[in-house]
Amino acid sequence: MTDAYLSSLFSLDGRVALVTGGSSGIGRAIAGALAHAGARVVVLARREAELDDTVAELRADGCTADRVSADLGTRDGVRAAADAAAAVFGEPDVVVSSAGINLRPPLGETDDATWDATMAVNLEAPYLLGQRFGPGMAERGFGRLIHVSSQQAHRAFVQSGVYGVSKGGLESLARSQAEAWSGRGVTANTLVPGFVLTPLNARLQSDPARVEALAARTMVGRNGLAEDFTGAAVFLASSASAYVTGQALHVDGGFSVH
Ligand SMILES: NC(=O)c1ccc[n+]([C@@H]2O[C@H](COP(=O)([O-])OP(=O)(O)OC[C@H]3O[C@@H](n4cnc5c(N)ncnc54)[C@H](OP(=O)(O)O)[C@@H]3O)[C@@H](O)[C@H]2O)c1
Repeated sequence: MTDAYLSSLFSLDGRVALVTGGSSGIGRAIAGALAHAGARVVVLARREAELDDTVAELRADGCTADRVSADLGTRDGVRAAADAAAAVFGEPDVVVSSAGINLRPPLGETDDATWDATMAVNLEAPYLLGQRFGPGMAERGFGRLIHVSSQQAHRAFVQSGVYGVSKGGLESLARSQAEAWSGRGVTANTLVPGFVLTPLNARLQSDPARVEALAARTMVGRNGLAEDFTGAAVFLASSASAYVTGQALHVDGGFSVH
């Protein structure tokens, strides 16, 4: 009885999910969570070896998964990637945009190339994927657009200026997508990490005192792990979150409210 009840809320059986950045860190953990909850999952990123490793791990667990190697750094690249992803298991019901880059020059030292590259991957790609898949989801009456933003959408942090701008835009994008399609069963929400121990911030992690200080800024008392995002991602991808849209869900151990 309990299993049937939980399944009615959270099962992703029959769903197709696309997870950008699904070969590493937070995206990889989310891809695994959606796959274990029953979705057929396509992971998308550039590096082949990491993609292969992710798919092999999921298949070894009995999940249905495949991969697309593509660069989300250009508009044509995103469009081609979307077509390639949809060709694997069909049009996705769930799109998670976790692919992101943080090039980190302080705002005063930022050049046009840094701005363009950051906006392309962190903001334009999720926008274009929404334009590509949102209308079809609305037609079918179910869809989930899930973005991974950052605490830097809400505060400046370690001088990585342009990155925070892109993440602020991403949370606004989720609200606009929610406004566009929620009336036809397509929700759009954002997961907001604090400081998570992934390859993205390897440089910051090389300073143990800094890592400890960041952990102390949370309420839970530790920094985030990729696995911390699994439950929230399944919830936002599932039927259970049908009335949750346009929201930014902070998965940060209390970092943002401390
Ligand atoms: N870790 C944190 O503390 C933290 C905090 C706040 C927000 N976030 C956000 O969380 C998300 C996931 O970050 P993470 O920490 O899990 O980082 P990560 O481990 O570095 O993963 C980033 C993923 O994005 C992919 N990617 C990057 N550029 C791409 C491109 N041009 N085209 C296609 N795929 C691309 C990477 O694969 P390839 O390199 O092979 O392409 C990788 O799979 C990001 O949006 C990040 O901004 C992270």
